[in-house]
Amino acid sequence: MKIAIINGPNLNLLGKRETNIYGNLSFQEFFEEMIAKYPAVTFSYFQSNIEGELINQLQEVGYTYDGIILNAAAYTHTSVGIADAVKAIETPVIEVHISNTYSREEIRHKSYIAPNAKGVIVGFGLQSYELALQSFLTLGR
Ligand code: DQA
Repeated sequence: MKIAIINGPNLNLLGKRETNIYGNLSFQEFFEEMIAKYPAVTFSYFQSNIEGELINQLQEVGYTYDGIILNAAAYTHTSVGIADAVKAIETPVIEVHISNTYSREEIRHKSYIAPNAKGVIVGFGLQSYELALQSFLTLGR
């Protein structure tokens, strides 16, 4: 199974950014654990702080991969362009968030992506990504 993980703005700072909210682990450390734990899965990983690059990457993997795990970070709450890309592609997208966005500021309660996502996993720390992966592994596309 081919799974693409796509992370949006500021998620390159995981492990040093607001650690009380996002934890102490860098994404690279977590990603290496996932690769070791799921040898049957072919992963790709992409992170960008730039909206258009995230759209390009969704288009890039969105016709050949089996699943996409997307944390669009702040763009979740603002980007019609990323929402349109999720709608346009064929590969199903699971939206994930590390923090429980619903227990935070109201601006984080709105997701432009969720209506076109296969599902949404919110608030389980980095385990949100693993839960999304397990959904693809057990339920398929
Ligand atoms: C986030 C939540 C967003 O509101 C925020 O802008 C982020 C990270 C999360 O994973 O909890 O950058 O997507």
